[in-house]
Amino acid sequence: MTITLAETAIDPARVAELTEREQAKLAERTRRSGEYFARASRVMPGGVPSQFQGNDPWPVYLERGEGARVWDVDANEYVDFHNGFGVMCVGHANPTIAAAVKARMDDGTHFAAPTEGSIVVAEELRRRWGLPYWRFTNSGTESTMDAVHLARGATGRDIIVKIEGSYHGHHDAVMVSVKPPAELMGERERPNAVPYGLGYPSTTASQTQPVPFNDAAALERTLADLEGQVAGVILEPAMMNINIVPPVAGYLERVRELATAHGVVLIFDEVKTGAAVAAGGATELFGVTPDVVCLAKAICGGLPGGAVGMTEALGALVADGRVRQQGTFNGNPLVMAAAQAALLEILTPAAYVQLHKANGDLMAGCDRVIADYGLPAHTIGMGSKGCVVMASEPIREYRDYITRIHHSLTELAWLYHMNRGVFMTPGVDEEWTLSVLHSDADLQRYVEVFETFARDVTAGS
Ligand SMILES: Cc1ncc(COP(=O)(O)O)c(C=O)c1O
Repeated sequence: MTITLAETAIDPARVAELTEREQAKLAERTRRSGEYFARASRVMPGGVPSQFQGNDPWPVYLERGEGARVWDVDANEYVDFHNGFGVMCVGHANPTIAAAVKARMDDGTHFAAPTEGSIVVAEELRRRWGLPYWRFTNSGTESTMDAVHLARGATGRDIIVKIEGSYHGHHDAVMVSVKPPAELMGERERPNAVPYGLGYPSTTASQTQPVPFNDAAALERTLADLEGQVAGVILEPAMMNINIVPPVAGYLERVRELATAHGVVLIFDEVKTGAAVAAGGATELFGVTPDVVCLAKAICGGLPGGAVGMTEALGALVADGRVRQQGTFNGNPLVMAAAQAALLEILTPAAYVQLHKANGDLMAGCDRVIADYGLPAHTIGMGSKGCVVMASEPIREYRDYITRIHHSLTELAWLYHMNRGVFMTPGVDEEWTLSVLHSDADLQRYVEVFETFARDVTAGS
């Protein structure tokens, strides 16, 4: 059963009225973005370079960023909590990244021959994650695609088990049950595999089996039912695309045991958590080591790149080309220069202490507002990432997310932030990402706007 605002002290009619007012305000404040959108729509489907950048009534087109701030084409200034979908933990135009990239620029930007930078970055990733072998990619999608190839190559099996409601990039094997509509999901124990969009072979869904997050018993039953057919289990150790859903105690440990027992390759998709929630990502934070780690986003300091880490046995499959891992731009010197500067000079142990503290302070500020105004909400976060979840109860999996969250409140809070100088991800399902350049005043701005929202939405109740 889906929760409704009628069960809270908040008046749904007031939420609807405020939403309409704030939508009009956003359209008014971002008129120039509207003009860009009209122009962009003539050359890019939906007016955007990537589907995730689209939004209603149009995307906010940005002009520049510096530190923790961004400016849009209407000259509105924002503190950036979107941070390029969690990429920019180093902050915008960080001088250390800029110097490293500029220096590399003068020495040539691309050879498709290995350079020392790739060795330095691979050594650092090995130190952080404890996995011995690393290869580079150009995106999170490529990292998870390579991980799937590794799992199938190592086992000679086809099926990939994934978590219902998780996103792992846009290659066929994982474009299944990403945001399945409730009426198509099927039984919770053995959910239907629902393709995410058109364009995949009709056999794709039969080779990917979703399971609910945070339910090791359901995974155990699925692996037993499909004994000898499952190549790999891929999961985000903490789900990060339906707000943040942390693993319950013992879950990841049990998943690790089950993967080993069934001869299945365990893949952690750390595209979002990697280098963002701790130096060694969720692997370090939760103390469970997979067979393959997929990275991208924060590790490359704002340039487009990714990496895939693997065990010695899997590395051997790649080394002699039995599993093909390749790409013209893999380990590109410019990307490696930015990654090296980000990992070795900016995201230092002290930086993680700072990010954890800032995130704790921001969550505490939001917790105070939630308590003062009696909002049906709670905060959740780790490392540089956090969010306000508009639900009184904890969310443990995708089915909770669609039934237990007051989505109308999430959407209204998003509009309040965007209209008052707090830049958020275009999708309301996401979380904030802090950078090392966010100041206390920047965090304060977030809390102040959240309080304005809380005061307005509860007024008269
Ligand atoms: C968990 C996760 N995996 C993979 C991807 C795909 O990464 P990319 O967009 O770099 O291809 C994303 C993108 O948001 C992600 O959140």
